[in-house]
Amino acid sequence: MMSTFSIAIDGPAGAGKSSIAKELANQLQCIYIDTGAMYRSVGYYCISQGIDYANEEQVEQALSELHLKLTLEEEGQQIFLNEKNISLLIRNNQVAAAASKVATYAAVRKALVKMQQEMSKSTSVVMDGRDIGTVVLPHATLKIFLTASVEERAQRRYKEYVQKGEKPCLETLKVEIKERDYQDSHRKISPLKKAEDAIEVDTTYMTIDEIVKQIIDLLKRRL
Ligand code: DC
Repeated sequence: MMSTFSIAIDGPAGAGKSSIAKELANQLQCIYIDTGAMYRSVGYYCISQGIDYANEEQVEQALSELHLKLTLEEEGQQIFLNEKNISLLIRNNQVAAAASKVATYAAVRKALVKMQQEMSKSTSVVMDGRDIGTVVLPHATLKIFLTASVEERAQRRYKEYVQKGEKPCLETLKVEIKERDYQDSHRKISPLKKAEDAIEVDTTYMTIDEIVKQIIDLLKRRL
């Protein structure tokens, strides 16, 4: 039986964070917390309520009306916004862009980081995001920073959309990924950044199974 541990996984959009984190949590039998889904939920709420997400004050006010709950079901992590399951509704580019914007606001980050820290208290977790190793879990047992080329990340997003029956434009996806990288890594508060003690893994030429195995080996050496 392993002692309690936490794995922080950070990296840019499309680096493979959620697929890897989900598989890790599955193999290690612990909780997976997708923090991007939480920022997406705030973005989704603004869009659905006609709140201008570029207006920091309006978004800050909306925070008090917004109740988020994460649950673990057989089909994976589900996220509820004011009791409504919005897990599928947050997976599109419009919501991703809104999420990236609201994630620049101090009040949003403060509220979500607090929730994330509470959810990971006294239980083993794999948590993925942009500031997990630097801010949310500074004492994580293991910190991983995933990267991959922009080309490869756009290809992965492209395949995901095609699987959902959509026909995206690869060049547009590349531009969107670059824009989101820029916004996420240049914001003032908790920008996307490799923690000093994080291990960088370039996933461009690796399979999910290979990466998961490598991370579990690293974890075992820490416990
Ligand atoms: O991982 P994702 O694509 O679902 O994240 C959506 C946006 O949320 C991302 O562009 C930046 C923001 N985010 C963040 O600022 N901090 C996190 N821990 C997770 C996501």
